[in-house]
Amino acid sequence: MSVSVLSPSRLLGGISGLLQVACLLGLFLLLLKAAQLYLHRRGLLRALKQFPSPPSHWLFGHNQEFQKDQELQWTMKWVQKLPSAFPHWLWGTKVRMLLYDPDYIKMVLGRSDPKSNGSYRFLAPWIGQGLLLLDGQTWFQHRRMLTPAFHYDILKPYVGLMANSVRVMLDKLEELIGQDSPVEIFQHVSLMTLDTIMKCAFSHQGSIQLDRNSQSYIQAIGDLNNLVFCRIRNAFHQNDTIYRLTPAGRWAHRACQIAHQHTDQVIKLRKAHLREEGELEKVRRRRHLDFLDILLFTKTENGSSLPDEDLRAEVDTFMFAGHDTTASSISWILYALAKNPKHQQKCREEIQSLLGDGAPITWDHLDQMPYTTMCIKEALRLYPPVPSVGRELSKPITFPDGRSLPKGTIVVLYIYALHHNPKVWPNPEVFDPSRFAPSSARHSHAFLPFSGGSRNCIGKQFAMIELKVAVALTLLRFKLLPDPTRVPTPLPTVVLKSKNGIHLHLRKLL
Ligand code: HEM
Repeated sequence: MSVSVLSPSRLLGGISGLLQVACLLGLFLLLLKAAQLYLHRRGLLRALKQFPSPPSHWLFGHNQEFQKDQELQWTMKWVQKLPSAFPHWLWGTKVRMLLYDPDYIKMVLGRSDPKSNGSYRFLAPWIGQGLLLLDGQTWFQHRRMLTPAFHYDILKPYVGLMANSVRVMLDKLEELIGQDSPVEIFQHVSLMTLDTIMKCAFSHQGSIQLDRNSQSYIQAIGDLNNLVFCRIRNAFHQNDTIYRLTPAGRWAHRACQIAHQHTDQVIKLRKAHLREEGELEKVRRRRHLDFLDILLFTKTENGSSLPDEDLRAEVDTFMFAGHDTTASSISWILYALAKNPKHQQKCREEIQSLLGDGAPITWDHLDQMPYTTMCIKEALRLYPPVPSVGRELSKPITFPDGRSLPKGTIVVLYIYALHHNPKVWPNPEVFDPSRFAPSSARHSHAFLPFSGGSRNCIGKQFAMIELKVAVALTLLRFKLLPDPTRVPTPLPTVVLKSKNGIHLHLRKLL
């Protein structure tokens, strides 16, 4: 009996044959990929053989070594044991070198390696290609364009604006402390620093601290900090398309939308306002150009205005970098002073001698609070608001002790670990402002809250002014005490946060 060409059994046989071929091909590709990953891992192990590593799993890296949220404690344990640097394996083929030796860090900051693509690219959907993420010639042009926005003459009048924002926050806190319960200060400080950057850099009229929309912006920035931190550490979340499909990816997308709504609104309002105000020269004669004016009036080399995308990226970058870092620093400084009442009182006496008669704080006062400045620096050492920065080596590097790393290595300049490194800072966990006494000496790269080299923080003077104003006015109004039942747990997200908030008791001074 003849069998037709299209008979079901022939068809099934054909399909199963095809399936077998597809399976074999799949298996072959899988083996090829596994061999590729194996060789890649071997190459990495060979390249880093001069640097002993904490024990790690071949597939899960160091993730099994510590509980989630315990990464900082785990890192510090190994900083004590391994000199200068060690590899942190995120998973089988992903490793970053953690550096915490001032000589090592000095060498890296003296070069011009780009920001590491592995972590900074996850910030791009949020803050775009602004100053923080740019590299090369475009970075240089933007840095040159924006530097005048932080000139001494521009910063001077900010003291009054900052003091107003701090006063609004302190009034709010005063209303909250009716009962003897502690206050979680991070959220209040964040709204205050957002208010400050909005007033100083974006000449915003009105109070952000009393506006509900600002709270959703602050919430979105907090979420994005956590989401970026987790994404860097998750092998399955590296691919953009896959990440977008995950709950975390959708959450990040929504948070970015909220953040962008806030910045879009700022740009839209200013463009409308400038149309009313008229030409640049007229505006310049009437008032100082603020950060946003500079961006809007800038002409690129071919004479055209800054493209909208670049403008948005810079606004998003400065809005985030200009408020979240200062919120972190002020909150941790107040916590450090609450834990160290003698130093707190010494700062208060210094400030009372300047402002005790109710005089408003001015630019000239800022240089007359040496002890408070020492305490601020010591708190920035213990709680660096930016816990780490990353670079991708564009050429090999050999450190002073002779050990080297090849081109392409991701290095993390671990500022938190540098600041807690017992070889650099004896008794690193002790709050001791005398480390910053004018007579004390230290390595040029032992204290780097604002990083260093050409990519240092463009806003560091702005930040230091804000920290002094906020600390001075807070200590004049309140005595600060820690809440022993809720000790904050530092969490090294993009900005140093506390896993459980920062709770303080505030006692109004008479
Ligand atoms: C206490 C507060 C602050 C701290 C601790 C801090 C820290 C830092 C650090 C460590 C970097 C280097 C980042 C890297 O290499 O990836 C940086 C860069 C930067 N910071 Fe700050 N910052 C603070 C406040 C500010 C403020 C107030 C602004 C703006 C008003 C600002 C704007 C920037 C920008 C735009 C960059 C990128 C600079 C560049 O790459 O050229 N920061 N900051």
